[in-house]
Amino acid sequence: MNDEIRPLIAGNWKMNGLSADLSQIRSLALALRNDPAHRCDVLICPPATLLAQTTRICLSGAIISGGQDCHTGQHGAHTGDISAAMLVDAGASYVIVGHSERRSDHGETDGLVNAKARAAMEAGAAPIICVGETHAERLGALAMTVVEKQLNGSVPGPEAFERRVVAKNLVIAYEPVWAIGTGLVPGLEDIAVMHSAIRDWLFERFGDEGAAVRILYGGSMKPANAKKILSVPHVNGGLVGGASLKAEDFLAIIRAA
Ligand code: PGA
Repeated sequence: MNDEIRPLIAGNWKMNGLSADLSQIRSLALALRNDPAHRCDVLICPPATLLAQTTRICLSGAIISGGQDCHTGQHGAHTGDISAAMLVDAGASYVIVGHSERRSDHGETDGLVNAKARAAMEAGAAPIICVGETHAERLGALAMTVVEKQLNGSVPGPEAFERRVVAKNLVIAYEPVWAIGTGLVPGLEDIAVMHSAIRDWLFERFGDEGAAVRILYGGSMKPANAKKILSVPHVNGGLVGGASLKAEDFLAIIRAA
């Protein structure tokens, strides 16, 4: 892991979690409060129904909370949607946008993801923009092309940041679609090649400011593989799905960072 960048370990609960499961966040907050030496930022993105409660619990453990998606607008006639302003109001500091499950379940395009990322920033939250290739694209040696196209289309240009510090307002998550929830993980060399290409892309887009933008790896990160993955150059943390649901597993990943 890059020593100069403070890593971010982010838990994505997806459509999981009822009030009873907040006990996991309580356990995590307690463990981190008793172990303040952890050297990474810890983020939990619960379903929106639990966000405000999560934020309250997180405060006691130096954990931050975030949303899993947002609308492109901040309010209006959009039944069932949630705006970034609402997420921020419930305590979110980050919003995941462009997760592959949103892209496939809801047909989200790069352009839409870009607009959502801008909406998150406008509301005062940093977007975590997800990119990643499918298995067929990896087999067809198209992974790099696909990810570059997603970055070009999904990441707002420098003008969207105005006087904001890019590194504080943008996170990229590389999540190979075929590794999400499958137990499969790319080889460390493949992760290294992709993260280094994303870093180069960030330099091209943002100049020197691209050096400090965090690039997370996501897809079947577990206690057993976290240390190895997190030691790959330009891997500045993880976006963790399944293993973030249990405090014990998530804590093991945090300790690996
Ligand atoms: P997973 O999910 O850790 O369960 O593979 C990661 C993600 O989709 O963010």
